[in-house]
Amino acid sequence: MVTTRGGQGQAWVRAGLVLATVGTLLGAFAGTLRPAGAEGATPEARRAARRAAAVEAAREIRATHLFEGGRGMHALPGIPTLLRIGRGFAPGAIDAALTDDLGLVLDEHGVAGLHAVRAGTFEVPVFGCAACHTGRAAGRTIVGLGNKRIDVGAIGRVQLGLSASHCFAWPVLGRTDRRLVAQALDTARLLVDARWRTPTQGLVPDAMIRSWFYQVQGVEPPATGVGAVKVPHLWGYAAKRKVGLFCDGFADGGNGGWGAMVEATAGQTPQAIRAYQSRVERVEALFERLLPPRYPFPIDGPAAARGAHVFSATCAGCHGDYALDADGFPDFQPPLYVPHAQVRTDGERLGLVTPAFRELVRRSPLGDLARLTALQGGYFAPRLDGVWARFPYLHNAAVPSLAALLTPPGQRPRVWALDRAGEAGRFDARAVGLTLPPAGSAAEARLLHLAGRGARHVYDVRRPGHGNQGHDFGTDLPPAAKRDLIEYLKTL
Ligand code: HEC
Ligand code: HEC
Repeated sequence: MVTTRGGQGQAWVRAGLVLATVGTLLGAFAGTLRPAGAEGATPEARRAARRAAAVEAAREIRATHLFEGGRGMHALPGIPTLLRIGRGFAPGAIDAALTDDLGLVLDEHGVAGLHAVRAGTFEVPVFGCAACHTGRAAGRTIVGLGNKRIDVGAIGRVQLGLSASHCFAWPVLGRTDRRLVAQALDTARLLVDARWRTPTQGLVPDAMIRSWFYQVQGVEPPATGVGAVKVPHLWGYAAKRKVGLFCDGFADGGNGGWGAMVEATAGQTPQAIRAYQSRVERVEALFERLLPPRYPFPIDGPAAARGAHVFSATCAGCHGDYALDADGFPDFQPPLYVPHAQVRTDGERLGLVTPAFRELVRRSPLGDLARLTALQGGYFAPRLDGVWARFPYLHNAAVPSLAALLTPPGQRPRVWALDRAGEAGRFDARAVGLTLPPAGSAAEARLLHLAGRGARHVYDVRRPGHGNQGHDFGTDLPPAAKRDLIEYLKTL
């Protein structure tokens, strides 16, 4: 089910639409016909229209891909057919491969952001933005939440493994098929490249996106780190956009610039990207309609009210306050920038944008779209709307729960499993985040062992760029104040 704040199932949406219609008709009788959702409609009608728009935006984002003229974010032709046949024999094994190994989100609507598009002789598996920008939390699918487990390295590796079968079929493939196979393998080789392959699922290497600017200008990318980040949430994006995309100005050349860079990395030509730039902008406009997911379990009201005071005193200085608009929806605000010396979280991502890279972007064929506007050494303090669903926390997903974030850095969990990270059984409603193996347990020892052997479904804070240091705000609060604060954070 697609869950958005207020989008509590179809019944509400239907009821809302009926109210919206009635409201509009009443308005018409009064001689003041206005579209539902516009100023002056009844509050119920406005609320219903806003929720309906969010649900519709989520549906459209999930249905969108930008494959164009045989190019785009695609994998090896024929895979959709293989998956269909495989599912006929062993659905469990196929589904486990898609979710556990590749980290894709699979629910009753299929795999989020994976489309089967006919091109050449075969169906081509095409990735849309939703492959990374749809996630699960506590067993719910949420469009606009970052996918907690997406594993682009594994997606590349599987394709290189399958490429033998395509080589075998090469003589009978048509020209388009051959081009599609060659492009898919180019992208797969990029995804597995050791220079930016992240060791952990759920972390996407920004250095891979950056590499395109080096590659088109024939310059060797510097070894300044992988820039491993989790996929951020997208509700409130319109407000965020006003202060820049990332605080280092990466890809900041107006709407659609970052989407264009993702597509370029995946093999689109600059000309193709320009030809469909309006579609990238359209997807980003849809992001702006999303609403944060409502916390799905009971909240202790009095504790949350006490927690609101703790938040104002300890957190609001950086994260802002969270007024609702007249209709009870979040009044999204832009995030504040915080220098690295103050937040002191893992700094690897900051090394990605250098003055030399800036110059390369400026000279590149996408220089106007990808433009870097600012070069600052710090991170945005992200707005905390829908924060309950965004675990593991921080830009590098190095802290598994809110309770862990409120623990002094030296005592935070060091290792945890990402298996079924978005499923109900892995949600710890007390800590708000992932369930953990008890400290010192055999289960923890096993995870440490697996991590040592390079398991991608285990997060180990000792890996480069995976540090869980910094952001020690609120860690010295008394336990009761921390509990109240967590209760309050559930309401955002
Ligand atoms: C391979 C996974 C992946 C895919 C596919 C993907 N994104 Fe993203 N997206 C990310 C990651 C990771 C970030 C954060 C990068 C960072 O923080 O440095 C991000 C960030 C963004 C942001 C900025 C959000 C914010 O508030 O910081 C926008 C906008 C965005 N993506 C749009 C798109 C669009 C449009 C598409 C489809 C054309 C797309 N993305 C496809 C992984 C992906
Ligand atoms: C001095 C500024 C500052 C203060 C005070 C502060 N934060 Fe933050 N917070 C940040 C910054 C900057 C980040 C991003 C750091 C990163 O991702 O590396 C952040 C990230 C977070 C995140 C991660 C969000 C996500 O999606 O992963 C949470 C949760 C959070 N803060 C909660 C709190 C709480 C609760 C408090 C009060 C106890 C607090 N913060 C106080 C600056 C601050």
